[in-house]
Parts: sequence; C-alpha cells; structure tokens
Amino acid sequence: MLKKMIAPSMMCADFLCLGDDLREMKACGIEYLHIDIMDGVFVPNFTLGTDYIKKLHRATDIPLDIHLMVSDVDGKLDWFEVREGDYISVHAEACTHLQRALACIRAKGAKAMVALNPGTSLSVLDEILPDVDGILVMTVNPGFAGQKMVPQTLEKIARLRAYLDANGYEHVDIEADGNVSFENARKMSDAGANIFVAGTSAVFVPDVPLRVGIEKLREAVK
Ligand code: DX5
Ligand code: ZN
Repeated sequence: MLKKMIAPSMMCADFLCLGDDLREMKACGIEYLHIDIMDGVFVPNFTLGTDYIKKLHRATDIPLDIHLMVSDVDGKLDWFEVREGDYISVHAEACTHLQRALACIRAKGAKAMVALNPGTSLSVLDEILPDVDGILVMTVNPGFAGQKMVPQTLEKIARLRAYLDANGYEHVDIEADGNVSFENARKMSDAGANIFVAGTSAVFVPDVPLRVGIEKLREAVK
C-alpha cells in the first residue's frame, strides 16, 4: 500500500500569507507542494512561473510537484529549476517525445510523472511504464481551480491502479488533481490514488485554517 500524500495546489494559496502557510504545511508534514505551470497555449490560463519555483526552493525544503501544462514541453524542461526529490509531470498530450522527456527528468535527479487529461486513454502509458515514478490523473480539465470532478475519472483511477499492480508497477504513484474535496478524496483514495492535489475544494477555503483542512483531508483518505 503506497503512502497517502497531500500536495497543496499553490496556485490556490494566498500569496500574502505564503511564508506562514509554508511553515504550517511543514508542521503538518505535507509531502509535496503542487506547482501548476500554465502557458496559455496548452491550457487557456497563466499561473505560476520559473522564478516562483526558484523562490520556493529557497524558502522551503518541502519537495515540489511541478505540473507542466505547457505545449511542446520536451524542449522546455531546462527552463525549470529542479531539486533532488522533486516531481516533474509532463502531459502526454503535449509531448512529441514522451520517453525522452521522462528520461531527461530523471537525469536531472527528479521523479518523472506523466499527466493525463480526462479525455486521454490509459493506453498512452503502454510503452513508458519503466520510465515513470508516478501518473497524474486529471480529474478536471486542466487550467482552472474551482471546477467539478469529471465523473468517469474515478473509474479511470481504479482501472489504472489495477493495470499497474497487475504488471509489476505497484510502486508507481497515482496523483489525483482537480476538485479533490473531502468527499471526492475518499472515493479517489478508494479507487487507488495516493497523492492528492489539494486546492480550493479542501485546504484553501476562506475562513478555514489551513491545518484544519489538511487534517480533515488526511482523515478522508486514510
Ligand atoms: C487544475 C489545477 C489544480 C486544482 C485546484 O488545473 O491543476 O490545482 O484543480 O484545486 P481545486 O480543483 O480544488 O480548486
Ligand atoms: Zn495541477
């Protein structure tokens, strides 16, 4: 059974309280900080950038989980500062040479992850399972916080977990990203996800202390 881990979605964080929030997340044992990088082409939005990653690397030792929603991502991996233990995810839909991109991520000392949009078949994974440490299943269409989970993605997580376990890839993480509410998180965990991207649906909720949301989410995925 893989460790259940929480990755707060930093695009949803209150930038004016970032220092306090990072200290609180460290105290809560947060395993990854989810960093959404969007280029306005692969998804119709801009969010965080290369300097934000550098600043976070200097502000905290919590590993980063960098989600690249970037077109033609193969040639842009060097744009992003990487630290040993970080996760870097590239979208299969945005990558001409997927195996090479994943090998490049590992060569940088990071863990390699493939991200799949809700409409993308699991079959794109067939040839690259030896090259991944995790798979990011988008449970919303990428680009914006505050959306509703695409219902069929729950069954997709279950099918993926079964496929990985049946083929000797029990060690590969499954990350759920999008509308990870307390109720959805429980279903995603039951389906086989073990990393949960926590945004406005769970931990970044106005007037709810960060620690309360994190502890409630940990309880939901136990
Ligand atoms: C979606 C983003 C996520 C997440 C935000 O593109 O990658 O960070 O949806 O959290 P929610 O969905 O809870 O607002
Ligand atoms: Zn994301």
